[in-house]
Amino acid sequence: MQPDATSAGCPFSAGRAGGAAPIEPTAAPTVPMSSGTMANGSAAPITHGDLREFPADPAACLMKLYRKHGPLAQLRAEDGMALTFVFSPELNRTVLSDGKRFHSKFFAIRGGRKSAQRRVTSGLLTMNGPDHKRHRRMVMEPFSKKIMPAYHEAIAELTGELLDGWEPGSTVDLHEEMNGYMRKLTSAILFGLDDPELAYRTGEKIDRWVHLNHETGMGAMVSDEGFLDSYDELLDLADSLEGDIQAMITARRGQPPTRDVLSILIDAAEKDPEGGGITDMELIGHVTLLFAAAHLTTAHSLTWTMFLLAQHPEVAQALAAEVAEGVAGDAATPGEADALPLLDRVIKESMRCLPASGYSQRLTAETVELGPLTLPPGSPVIFSQYVTHHMPDLYPDPMPFKPERWEDLKPPSYGYIPFGSGPRLCLGAMLAMTVLKTVIPSVMKRYRLSCEADSTVNAKIVSTMLGPITPVPMEIHPADGQWQHRPVHGNVNTLVDLNHTHAPAMRKAA
Ligand code: HEM
Repeated sequence: MQPDATSAGCPFSAGRAGGAAPIEPTAAPTVPMSSGTMANGSAAPITHGDLREFPADPAACLMKLYRKHGPLAQLRAEDGMALTFVFSPELNRTVLSDGKRFHSKFFAIRGGRKSAQRRVTSGLLTMNGPDHKRHRRMVMEPFSKKIMPAYHEAIAELTGELLDGWEPGSTVDLHEEMNGYMRKLTSAILFGLDDPELAYRTGEKIDRWVHLNHETGMGAMVSDEGFLDSYDELLDLADSLEGDIQAMITARRGQPPTRDVLSILIDAAEKDPEGGGITDMELIGHVTLLFAAAHLTTAHSLTWTMFLLAQHPEVAQALAAEVAEGVAGDAATPGEADALPLLDRVIKESMRCLPASGYSQRLTAETVELGPLTLPPGSPVIFSQYVTHHMPDLYPDPMPFKPERWEDLKPPSYGYIPFGSGPRLCLGAMLAMTVLKTVIPSVMKRYRLSCEADSTVNAKIVSTMLGPITPVPMEIHPADGQWQHRPVHGNVNTLVDLNHTHAPAMRKAA
């Protein structure tokens, strides 16, 4: 069976394979010239080039387009296929707040209509309109404030387990450690700890499935020979995943509800006041998406925040002092975590500098005019947290990591969007913040981290997520307060300026 190429992975694939008609600027006459100017002499925000430039290095391509064209840009291939990019808060609002004209599209390959692959990808991100609204209301239930304390227990327990395994004097790959931790935690939160083996096994399958979606999607685009093999593996994995999750749903039916997401969702669906509920197939789609949406985004945010702390000793020292004073036990309680202002600023700034979601996309549902561009239905429109968070008029001196900027900074709405905004605002934002605000103080209480001397840290936006693509070797020391800056090589230095030293005021703030 061939994949449904119209829905393969990234915006790049939607642009090439989605069959979108060539995009013409609206100002008459409409024929664009190769220089990127309109025939009438006015500037068109168009760069003519190869669309593969975008997936090859999304962050560099996004920045280049922004620097050249400003808040609205288009990358257009010779055949007229195009990717359109919006960067300013105003344009982000236009796109993100209008779910009627701008539809969401899941990053995964959809598979044939009757395939398990089609069913496991039937989560919130493939839904639009009233369907999305109704399902979102039910899927929200397990992420409400009242349920957070139940998750906090699992977060603190697994954090303790993780940190017990770190030996002072040793070096860990922080990236791998955070991935493993989040794989376990997400499995536990979604599927409960009654049968941890099954929960972790299912989590690992979803993790492999997410990677295969990416590999297969990219393979399809570049006619990779191995593409059909990985597509077959993807379909087999989707079959097996569907079977596992279905078995968990069946086992939970008729049992007293427990505090895992799957149980809460089954319960919410049964009580759906609008009727309709959620079918088992939809439930499977929702939990698969939830795992995919939660795991790597949170793991990347944890890795980046601790990496940035290790690179900025004055900030790390001040934060360690704040934690020592404000956290009584090994793990911060939610009340303690909320009373740590520097921790809050550190996380905000880390998500500004290196946002785990580097960009996201919509597809136009009808003909849409954006500035001088007319986009036919099915056109991919991309917004980018990475670029918006680096606009100098919103964030003066945007490249360095400066938590202190948040003491008096109030970005406009749609100007700070690590969790998106509008009707598709991240459902797990509160959970993700609880994880970050529990794990980071626990690490600071027990250890001091320093980047391994001469190490290389490379990063890339893969399947919309900005994460490390190399290990992040981190030396573990006792919490002796001797934080020090060890420069690293690698392209992470092009994404964030790691040489900024903080004023003594930051040290005094401790
Ligand atoms: C630091 C961690 C996280 C980051 C940076 C993040 C980021 C985002 C972003 C940017 C969006 C909006 C995408 C768009 O508009 O196209 C989103 C949506 C979503 N996120 Fe998260 N997320 C994180 C953690 C989580 C967690 C822990 C969960 C759940 C367990 C989750 C579940 C979702 C869901 C279900 C959506 C889709 C909402 C909808 O379409 O209505 N996320 N996330």
